[in-house]
Amino acid sequence: MSLGFFVLWNVSCSGKHKTLTIKKERFGMFDGKQANLYTLTNDKGMVVKITNYGGIIQTLTAPDRNGKFEDVVLGYDRLDDYLKDSPYFGAIVGRYGNRIARGRFTLDGVQYQLATNNGPNHLHGGIKGFDKVVWSAEPIHEKDKVRLKLTYLSPDGEEGYPGNLKVAVIYSLTNHNELEIEYFAQTDKATPVNLTHHGYFNLTGHCKRDILEHQLWINADYFTPVDSTLIPTGELRPVEGTPFDFRQPTAIGARINDPDEQLKYGRGYDHNWVLNQADGTLKLQAALYDPQSGRYMQIYTDQPGLQFYSGNFLDGSIVGKGGVVYKHRYGLCLETQHFPDSPNHPEFPSTILRPGEQYHTKTIYKFSIK
Ligand code: GLA
Repeated sequence: MSLGFFVLWNVSCSGKHKTLTIKKERFGMFDGKQANLYTLTNDKGMVVKITNYGGIIQTLTAPDRNGKFEDVVLGYDRLDDYLKDSPYFGAIVGRYGNRIARGRFTLDGVQYQLATNNGPNHLHGGIKGFDKVVWSAEPIHEKDKVRLKLTYLSPDGEEGYPGNLKVAVIYSLTNHNELEIEYFAQTDKATPVNLTHHGYFNLTGHCKRDILEHQLWINADYFTPVDSTLIPTGELRPVEGTPFDFRQPTAIGARINDPDEQLKYGRGYDHNWVLNQADGTLKLQAALYDPQSGRYMQIYTDQPGLQFYSGNFLDGSIVGKGGVVYKHRYGLCLETQHFPDSPNHPEFPSTILRPGEQYHTKTIYKFSIK
């Protein structure tokens, strides 16, 4: 991993540590293509490491209330481990984040059959989704941000989807400890598109504890209940009086074992929340807080939904970065996106992108302390 380490770009401002840098090192080979690891650093010392394999955020550090930066995401040290088996650690998910029932949908009178890879359903783009391809990468030079632009051309028919889809994802790290993710796409045939980031967060720092004491706030009065295969039934159910009410910051573990049918289906939380006042503009819609370390993460998004997954399938069988064992609920995902299975639910906000349209969405993860 230390092979070919060099500085690509470096902006120096006045004063000590006032530097935004991006460095590139080799991470390995996949499909005959070179995967690199790009290290973005801001003037506070916050570090984000991204590989162009799957657009994966491999490391993300944030300060605790004593100013100590530690890694707050799950992942692997080596590319080979990502290639062998990864539950979408830190990846870009596409062409469609989350499930499409039986991998089927009808669009403009044509029925499409996608790859099925999750019981009867299609999950996270199929067998080889955007998390398992090598993207082209290009650092972008800006004064107050350090950015990495990733691009990928998803060919017509890939995993069963119609149309050649040109995708770009831009990661930006600011000097305000914000990680911005912008997603762009254009197509030459109508197709569903729903891109998201599948980071597993644990604000304790290097997974010192599980995530059950993290306090979560979600600005949502409704969620979308699911069937036993985690496909939304179509109902928008009020969170009021249920374990899905996070309108006041609440410890994730407080109700996770309640005798609730929805929690049983998800083996915990694995659901989509219907974000309030989602009108396509960027809004503060969720926040996560670890009371012990003081780390606080706010999520701004323009998306209508948030999939909160409480790491229910982590079972201690994965050994991650630095030999840390990822036990049950040692990481959680907060995936900003459209609702699962929208192509089969005309009543949900549309996920169909047509030729001539520009798909553009933005999410910001902002780190601070409380
Ligand atoms: C999403 C899904 C979960 C699970 C994880 C990855 O959050 O909704 O059911 O597939 O990804 O394990």
